[in-house]
Amino acid sequence: PAAAAATARAQAQELGAQPTAAPSSGYAVAVLGASGGIGQPLSLLLKLTPGVRELRLYDVAPTAGVAADLSHIATPARVSAHSGPDALADALYGADLVVIPAGVPRKPGMTRDDLFNINAGIVRTLVEGVARFCPRAWLAIISNPVNSTVPIAAEVLKRAGAFNPGRLFGVTTLDVLRANTFAAEVLGLDPEAVSVPVIGGHAGATILPVLSAASPPVQLPDDRARALMARIQDAGTEVVKAKAGAGSATLSMAAAAARFAASCLRAMGGDSNVVECAYVASSLVSGLPYFASPLRLGPAGIAEFLPLPPMNGVERENLEAMRGELDASIKKGVDFVANPP
Ligand code: NAD
Ligand code: LMR
Repeated sequence: PAAAAATARAQAQELGAQPTAAPSSGYAVAVLGASGGIGQPLSLLLKLTPGVRELRLYDVAPTAGVAADLSHIATPARVSAHSGPDALADALYGADLVVIPAGVPRKPGMTRDDLFNINAGIVRTLVEGVARFCPRAWLAIISNPVNSTVPIAAEVLKRAGAFNPGRLFGVTTLDVLRANTFAAEVLGLDPEAVSVPVIGGHAGATILPVLSAASPPVQLPDDRARALMARIQDAGTEVVKAKAGAGSATLSMAAAAARFAASCLRAMGGDSNVVECAYVASSLVSGLPYFASPLRLGPAGIAEFLPLPPMNGVERENLEAMRGELDASIKKGVDFVANPP
């Protein structure tokens, strides 16, 4: 990358361009799986995100085309392409934030857990790289099944002595966007004015939108509240069915991950007002070893676990009902690293 930058500078000088100081402030963000359905639009949104100094695009597939394309957008982020396992070190070295959308998506009829056999190994390998080349980075995992891939990442980091539970996140922001959008539809409001906390995990019944704690309040008769909750829980499947074999949510996921990444960068930069829901390693709020809940982010990672939102009777029942499934998914991830197949 240094040689490429020097060549680009020399070419610019030959063309008579004024050499300008390279932007020195901001953060280095690596996207692993950057050529994919999520990776490409996510990289576009990150190229447009304030605070990104370097955008490193890594994939086992070629990344040069996406990187060349994005590099023409007139924002400060310097874009670099890294392809294939030998290029992982360069993509990760000294990165501040690593976002991982690498892995296979669902087809109709599959559960997220059906992706485990392929994606578990992909996440393990990539996180081994993170432990080695940027052990202090914040890590945001998108690859499914998130309920298991985050425990896999944690176990890999623990074994490498690089685990910081305050900096490892399963991205559940899409559940929040969906809850805000669908609740706003029902209430006839602007989705940007609605905020629904979503807790638990990221699969079926483990996705628990706490509609009773939404702002503004979502007050619906029981049957309509249940229908709204079911739509939020099944929203991933709604997209998988509509794409009819061509994959799962990519564009809305890119928007969600870009929002989460921007929140991380703002928190790193000292903004003390950043709150996001994410799936993290802590038994503090639920008793389970991993759980998604609202978190205040700070310069060093998670700064505060906000208390679980107050829940009505149905929501409390759903919280109890999800425990078995979430616990089994967590154990499956932990076991994958402890006893590799
Ligand atoms: P995709 O197949 O379009 O893209 C995946 C990319 O990962 C491809 O470019 C592929 O080459 C790359 N890849 C595969 N193995 C890799 C490896 N070892 N190292 C680096 N890159 C590798 O899939 P997609 O639609 O972008 O979905 C990616 C993942 O995100 C899926 O597992 C999907 O289930 C998940 N997802 C999660 C959420 C969420 O809310 N957390 C939402 C949508 C999708
Ligand atoms: C989603 O919620 O859209 C993702 O987890 C992808 C999927 O498989 O549903």
